[in-house]
Amino acid sequence: MGYNLLKNKKGIIFGALDDKSLAWKTATRAFEEGAQFTLSNTQSAIRFGQINTLGNKCNAKIIPADATRIKDIEQVILQSMEILGGKVDFVVHSIGMSLNVRKHREYDDLDYDYFLKTIDISALSFHKLLQVAKKLDAIKEWGSVLTYTYIAAQRTLYGYNDMADAKALLESITRNFGYIYGREKKIRINSISQSPTKTTAGSGIKGVDGLIDFTERMSPLGNATADECANFAVVLLSDLSRKITMQNIYHDGGFSSMAMSLKAMTQYNKCLDEEK
Ligand SMILES: NC(=O)c1ccc[n+]([C@@H]2O[C@H](COP(=O)([O-])OP(=O)(O)OC[C@H]3O[C@@H](n4cnc5c(N)ncnc54)[C@H](O)[C@@H]3O)[C@@H](O)[C@H]2O)c1
Repeated sequence: MGYNLLKNKKGIIFGALDDKSLAWKTATRAFEEGAQFTLSNTQSAIRFGQINTLGNKCNAKIIPADATRIKDIEQVILQSMEILGGKVDFVVHSIGMSLNVRKHREYDDLDYDYFLKTIDISALSFHKLLQVAKKLDAIKEWGSVLTYTYIAAQRTLYGYNDMADAKALLESITRNFGYIYGREKKIRINSISQSPTKTTAGSGIKGVDGLIDFTERMSPLGNATADECANFAVVLLSDLSRKITMQNIYHDGGFSSMAMSLKAMTQYNKCLDEEK
């Protein structure tokens, strides 16, 4: 159900690969809320993923870009402004990838070229996007920029690997750019720290099924789904959240405030009994 939260709002959404992607769900909800937007992803993601289906569904043009390349980002922003008829109200950055994770390199045996790529794709791309948008003056006053992150930026979670470092940098960029963009243009920048979710990127994390089960048992409200993430995202993109900026907001059913729950303790005790 839509509430017209994004009526007359225009935006750019990066990172929809398939119907599991957080960006896909966000785009679908944004469309239901009345937004008009363009979509962007890499050439290979467009070729091998399902973004064209999303584009048809949401009446959105798709602009290919490698988000680590300034020239590509400039093109996405310039073309989006042309298609949408001027400055945009919101930008969603939903981009992440680690070759170390993909190639099963452990954190104490990282390939440093891959590591730099992880940082470039998963964190620096956000800075590049913001810097290009600011230089082109592409976002309207009181606009909203959003990225997706994970609690591994604050706490060590087995298997998250160099993505944890990338997320720490991503959240730092959110604060530091948020100050400048807020001060000069009244544009807000926030990150949503989402529960582990079975997307293509999420599924690559070592032991993800165990992790999802663990966080489900630990969180008083249970894990947040991708659809719930999209619901929250549209609020952050809307005028209802105008004074929230430079924040990392946990959208995780309460997991981030827990240390031990009854459900997790019960499971833990069961394992100990079996061991005895
Ligand atoms: N799935 C989870 O458990 C979870 C939890 C918290 C945060 N996140 C974050 O949400 C974001 C979206 O991931 P997702 O889970 O929807 O998975 P996903 O695999 O559907 O999306 C990742 C996207 O990044 C894109 N991408 C990779 N390299 C790129 C590049 N060079 N240029 C442009 N785009 C590029 C991919 O094509 C893909 O569309 C990521 O930042 C991820 O870390 C995911």
